[in-house]
Amino acid sequence: MRELLPKRAQEYRVRAHEIAERVVRPLAAELDRTGDYPWPVVAALREQGLMGLWIPEEFGGSGAGVLDLCVVVEELSRACGGVGVAYAVNALGSFPILLGGSEEQKRRWLPAVASGEKLIAFGLSEKASGSDAGSLRTRAVLAGDGYVVDGDKKWNTNGNAASLYTVYVSTRPDRGSRGISALVVEKGTPGFEIGKREDLMGIRCVPVHELHFRGCRVPRENLLGGVEGKGFGNAMMTLDRARPGVAAQAVGLAQGALDWALRYTSERQQFGQSVLSFQSTQFRLADMATEIEAARQLVYAAARTIDEGHPGASKYAAMCKVFASDVAMRVTTDAVQMFGGYGYTRDYPIEKYMRDAKITQIYEGANQIQRLVIGRALTKEATALGGMLDVTVEHFAPEPVAVEEPA
Ligand code: CAA
Repeated sequence: MRELLPKRAQEYRVRAHEIAERVVRPLAAELDRTGDYPWPVVAALREQGLMGLWIPEEFGGSGAGVLDLCVVVEELSRACGGVGVAYAVNALGSFPILLGGSEEQKRRWLPAVASGEKLIAFGLSEKASGSDAGSLRTRAVLAGDGYVVDGDKKWNTNGNAASLYTVYVSTRPDRGSRGISALVVEKGTPGFEIGKREDLMGIRCVPVHELHFRGCRVPRENLLGGVEGKGFGNAMMTLDRARPGVAAQAVGLAQGALDWALRYTSERQQFGQSVLSFQSTQFRLADMATEIEAARQLVYAAARTIDEGHPGASKYAAMCKVFASDVAMRVTTDAVQMFGGYGYTRDYPIEKYMRDAKITQIYEGANQIQRLVIGRALTKEATALGGMLDVTVEHFAPEPVAVEEPA
């Protein structure tokens, strides 16, 4: 039901689909093997004006929304999940500036991201603080006209490919998450080094690195919004906007796996007929297609709540991330099964879809954290129900049962 998308999103979809088929698909297997960065894709996206489309026109972007971003990520991921996240992570890295940067900071950093001249990454997680993001330990101390940063970041997607990094640091450890601030660090700043590259199961064309800060001096004017202590809220609001992008990646991967499953089962002959003609195959494909469509519509709806500034957006972002990534894992695993032994080899790209899908259940907040976010929202809603269900229900107020005393 992509037909129901607004006209602008449909146009983005067509442009992204063209790049996905012409540039991404022919490269996907090689990028997976070599781990090379998808620079030819970045070049094509720049040519088509798709880099930084979510950035307002006044800062060099196209002024598009999260919904437009999601349809582009979906189309790219349908051909390669690694390419999908390599692109989407620029939104994750630049949303903090859009949400919390001063006018001057936006003018300084966003145009280069919008044009694709510079890639940007997001540095929140650390070795000892993943789900519990508020416990991060990277320290920044104000000294004269700058902050001296010491600490290490983990799981930095686009690590060595980026030129700009939004990094969350503690400026007041005694204040917990209220003492967290956001700094923009430029590559090449003395004391800032890109560390170990992770050897990942999937999304292998995207470099995920550790970041190290050793007495790294970051100018005071790189403090987002010029105010300390606003970092944690900024990170949370950023993740609310970015999680539909992960969900869109998951939808694209699931759709890509379904495309391959349809093609393979229609060509593969067993017992004198195509595998697709077996009812058991058709029933499973029917369930896969239905689940994918449900996930897609939830992603689009969540993206629209963000674009329209709806207060419930956080819950919907978490819902679509959980649902779409679980669908992607189920669909890609079942697609591998449909390929039989061939599914377990690299003769076909289907095993890559399964490897790429797994991370969507983990990053930008593991699905357990998404359920926690949804659960907290529901708890508030339960309070808001007030007297709505104020009726006498026997089950809640049972008659006391007489207990017979033993003789
Ligand atoms: N929007 C704005 N503010 C928010 C918020 C939101 N969605 N959620 C929380 N806050 C604010 C609260 O209002 C509170 O503010 P005050 O201090 O002023 O009262 C403050 O943040 C603390 O809130 P909580 O007590 O709810 O925070 P918590 O410690 O319980 O943590 C959490 C909440 C949801 C578990 C959060 O820690 C979280 O999202 N964890 C997962 C982190 C994550 O997604 N990491 C992935 C990093 S990116 C990545 O994977 C790598 C990559 O490059 C792709």
